[in-house]
Amino acid sequence: MSTTTVVVTGGAGFIGANLVHLLLESRPDWHVLNLDKLTYAGNLDNLKAAEGRPNYRFEKVDIVDRAALERAFASIPRGGRTLVLHLAAESHVDRSIQSGLPFVEANVVGTQNLLDVCRAHGVERFVHVSTDEVYGSLGSEGFFTEDTPIQANSPYSASKAASDLLVRAAVHTHGFPASITRCSNNYGPYQFPEKLIPLMIANARESKPLPVYGDGLYVRDWLFVRDHCEALLAVLEKGQTGEVYNIGGNNEYPNIQIVKRILAELKRPESLIQYVKDRPGHDRRYAIDASKIQKELGWAPRFRFEDALPMTIRWYLDNDDWLQRVRSGAYRDYYAAQYGA
Ligand code: NAD
Ligand code: TYD
Repeated sequence: MSTTTVVVTGGAGFIGANLVHLLLESRPDWHVLNLDKLTYAGNLDNLKAAEGRPNYRFEKVDIVDRAALERAFASIPRGGRTLVLHLAAESHVDRSIQSGLPFVEANVVGTQNLLDVCRAHGVERFVHVSTDEVYGSLGSEGFFTEDTPIQANSPYSASKAASDLLVRAAVHTHGFPASITRCSNNYGPYQFPEKLIPLMIANARESKPLPVYGDGLYVRDWLFVRDHCEALLAVLEKGQTGEVYNIGGNNEYPNIQIVKRILAELKRPESLIQYVKDRPGHDRRYAIDASKIQKELGWAPRFRFEDALPMTIRWYLDNDDWLQRVRSGAYRDYYAAQYGA
């Protein structure tokens, strides 16, 4: 039987690490090659359970670096099939507001570089993991469908939209076998505590103020990360070339409700909530219509927010070492000593 190698870019990040774990658990015959630059968001602590597995390998690779990418793909045994799940990206909106250029480098230049190397290698399937944020912002009505025009509003979402167009162009021009996914906000284990849910859990735990932007009535459509990862495998195995698939859980909440739930769960007072200056250009509402992936690929979310949010909070409490190493930056020094800064 020929070998299947699945390359995961950004596999040391939040969603990537959850995906690597799912792949090793559910596709034991596949070889997983994790290519990650180890930016501040990439943390090999997330992959301790994968280390030492004979069918898992990590290479520190910046997808912007053509030669490094080529070497990594050249190391894949010939004769089998190679599949790619592309998650590597700069991912935090607030950082993109501070400085947009790293987002253009990683998300736009990096994606084109990867597409070129994958095409030369003869990759059989490529899933480009994008975001619902490329569609811009909704008012109180309606949902994003795959036909909603691209109206990215932040440097982060603009760079993701640009990468989506590069993938589309590779399909159209070269017949490259790619699909694009656009998922709503994820939550779950291993999320870097700069994003809403883990930041609020970490601060509430230490009875530090919980910074809520603007009026707190901004709405996001939350999906448990495991459901997202299962959707990505469905698109990898059953998705059609050139198609876009929205992924979401029909699970909208205003930020303030999420924050209050976390406080209630951790038995901390609402007086910890601190309304702070709004994010510039803050998108009001995201909401996904995921009927296409449900109908065409048979995917549906399995986790209910009522269960998965408390599970997530419990995970951060049970993994206090992980959180402390992230908050202190100790993980960065540790892996820089092994792999270089
Ligand atoms: P993350 O920031 O936690 O992880 C990103 C990973 O990419 C990190 O491990 C980082 O080291 C790596 N990386 C960054 N630049 C790189 C480069 N130049 N070369 C190689 N590796 C690089 O992000 P995440 O939340 O896990 O998101 C993963 C993907 O999913 C992103 O493409 C993001 O746009 C998309 N997405 C995220 C969400 C969400 O809610 N988190 C929702 C929809 C889509
Ligand atoms: P975030 O987790 O950064 O995801 P995104 O901006 O990609 O949706 O933010 C989720 C929502 O929470 C968003 O409306 C901004 C808001 N937010 C706060 O109110 N306070 C915070 O400290 C953070 C990080 C986010």
